[in-house]
Amino acid sequence: MANVIVIGAQWGDEGKGKITDLLSKSADVVVRYQGGVNAGHTLVVQGQTFKLHLIPSGILYPDTECIIGCGTVIDPQVLIRELDQLEKLKISTQNLLISETAHVTMPYHRLIDQASEERRGDHRIGTTGRGIGPTYADKSERTGIRVIDLMNPVGLRKQLHWAINYKNAILEKLYNLPPLDAEEVIAQYLEYAERLRPHVVDTSLKIYDAIQRRRNILFEGAQGTLLDLDHGTYPYVTSSNPVAGGACVGTGVGPTMIDRVIGVAKAYTTRVGEGPFPTELDGEIGELLCDRGAEFGTTTGRRRRCGWFDAVIGRYAVRVNGMDCLAITKLDVLDELEEIKVCVAYEVDGEKCNDFPHNARRFARCRPIYKTMPGWKQSTVDCRSLEDLPQQALDYLKFLAELMEVPIAIVSLGASREQTIIVEDPIHGPKRALLHANGTPVVTEV
Ligand code: IMP
Repeated sequence: MANVIVIGAQWGDEGKGKITDLLSKSADVVVRYQGGVNAGHTLVVQGQTFKLHLIPSGILYPDTECIIGCGTVIDPQVLIRELDQLEKLKISTQNLLISETAHVTMPYHRLIDQASEERRGDHRIGTTGRGIGPTYADKSERTGIRVIDLMNPVGLRKQLHWAINYKNAILEKLYNLPPLDAEEVIAQYLEYAERLRPHVVDTSLKIYDAIQRRRNILFEGAQGTLLDLDHGTYPYVTSSNPVAGGACVGTGVGPTMIDRVIGVAKAYTTRVGEGPFPTELDGEIGELLCDRGAEFGTTTGRRRRCGWFDAVIGRYAVRVNGMDCLAITKLDVLDELEEIKVCVAYEVDGEKCNDFPHNARRFARCRPIYKTMPGWKQSTVDCRSLEDLPQQALDYLKFLAELMEVPIAIVSLGASREQTIIVEDPIHGPKRALLHANGTPVVTEV
């Protein structure tokens, strides 16, 4: 039995979808613990492409129970579209459970998200415009609508009349937008409620039961560590907690129940939206990474900003997530490069800086200090073991593991399940020990 959290170690889009899909094979339960339809996984299975925003990728396995936890925010319209899409492809959705205490994204959340971004001008965050921030803001303000509220038509009607009245004042007076028709929204959400009702349960209880029955549980994070509301590059972050700690809060599971934390990082770095990005590449190499890596957002289609691997944020992600091991994805995207750079530290205001600074303005002034490594200039897409990899690619991976002080358990070389090297079992392999008895960090060789 193992309960495992999979997190993104960078700014999201690390390829967690593929890694969770791989690990889902041995999981009995897959739980999504935060975020909403801002996330998106593209999965390729037997030549078929799936895009999922809310439903955990484990849904592709017929015997796996999939749970959308209480820490998520649910846009019922998108969720129902995903259910319909899967059912059309003859993929059963019977095993999908939705937390009754997750919060619900309403039409006014989307409108306010988009209007407030426009109002911010140069200070915009570059949100996905899907209403995520406003839904979480209402949760904190204690004016949110939860899934459990959707299940009670009489109460929902009252709640929504009040909420829409309140939000209409904001839409009209602050943003100059037309008001929403309360009856129309209520009718629509009552319809959504009936479609979702068979899936709605106390998911914390379900997960606890599964833990007691010694089932394998995979907790799937969306976005990434640097987009975490508390630990990311605030204010250029999302409004939830993608870090491993978020898995406990976002599912109602105690930390003592967690066995492993697996981080996922690309062999380079990408970011969508605004905010500092020290290793960003503007020129030809940035273009090459974007084109070879097909770096366009699953949710918004936006072109992702691309740059070299940043081991400063990598080390930070290892620390704040208590990461046991790492999956490195998209190594093949680097196949054609003459040389490859890795950011080992920053230079800021004339000083060397080894740790991620929390001050956004200081972070924006950080200049990367690079170590340059030779490229391997050959295809790795058909490599199936470490021995198949060119020596330079092996050296690159080994260097990343050393810098980040964490073993690399998985290397991904393409979108399909087969294009993967399992270096060691990420679930049952040895855990990362923090320090040797003599105080030196443990580094597992790749
Ligand atoms: P929001 O989550 O839509 O509020 O957007 C806040 C920030 O998080 C923006 O910079 C988005 O581009 C970024 N973001 C949200 N979801 C994802 C994701 O799944 N991948 C990468 N960036 C994301």
